[in-house]
Amino acid sequence: MSGQGRLSHKRAIITGAASGIGEASARLYAAEGASLVLADIDPKGASVARELDAEFVRCDVSSAADVERLAAKALERLGGADVLFANAGIAVESSVLATTEDDWQRVLGTDLTGVWLTCRAFLPSMLANGGGSIIATASQLGLVGIANLAAYTAAKGGVINLMRSLAAEHGRDGIRANALCPGPTWTPLTERLTHRDGANEDALHTVAERTLLGRFGRPEELASAALFLASDESSYVTGSALVVDGGYTAV
Ligand SMILES: NC(=O)c1ccc[n+]([C@@H]2O[C@H](COP(=O)([O-])OP(=O)(O)OC[C@H]3O[C@@H](n4cnc5c(N)ncnc54)[C@H](O)[C@@H]3O)[C@@H](O)[C@H]2O)c1
Repeated sequence: MSGQGRLSHKRAIITGAASGIGEASARLYAAEGASLVLADIDPKGASVARELDAEFVRCDVSSAADVERLAAKALERLGGADVLFANAGIAVESSVLATTEDDWQRVLGTDLTGVWLTCRAFLPSMLANGGGSIIATASQLGLVGIANLAAYTAAKGGVINLMRSLAAEHGRDGIRANALCPGPTWTPLTERLTHRDGANEDALHTVAERTLLGRFGRPEELASAALFLASDESSYVTGSALVVDGGYTAV
């Protein structure tokens, strides 16, 4: 542990921890003293977990059975949960007209249903503990629209409102629930979208240039915000959408 112990004594679960924002958050949470269980559909998460002395559970967040298995294993390892960071997500580029039913279900299944399933699985133990912090990764594109990401923007808008409803239902039980809204961030997700063809590369860089800072965010910059929401420093923050988007949605 090389941080300031901002998460010491906290037991945290992070989904989508094999890569990008989730991986950077896992590294920061570990440095700040959290005990961790990491989950991802990608087995590469196991090597991140090994490095951080954490447990890895392979889990598809769109499957209720997988998520229930994750909760059972995490609670067995950690003895409870103080922080849940539901971060796993995918993006499929497609317009309202061109989106197939399969792609719609896949994106909504991971990005929205996955968040709900994860919250549902961990809430009982958080309630039994007397509270906790739930963070779900939405997007700046859950606050504003954009062409050609129909299912993604619908799912991310849903995540923001799901966190508000969760905050309303369980605020008096000590549960805080917040959405983290990254703007364009340079991760394997953006890399994959960029490398599919040259047109995408231009479009993505245009999105980054639309930010007031004129650049992509770094996963570590999102991890800092996820640390704030996980720690007691955000003890009066609930039902919020914390926008970390380089100013994309400000103008
Ligand atoms: N990168 C950006 O520009 C950006 C912007 C706004 C929001 N986000 C959101 O941030 C989150 C993290 O994205 P990232 O950019 O770090 O991408 P990433 O692809 O680097 O990481 C996402 C991780 O989620 C995992 N995952 C995907 N589907 C899963 C499933 N069904 N079950 C379990 N794990 C699954 C992937 O294997 C991967 O490890 C996502 O929710 C994404 O929508 C990203």
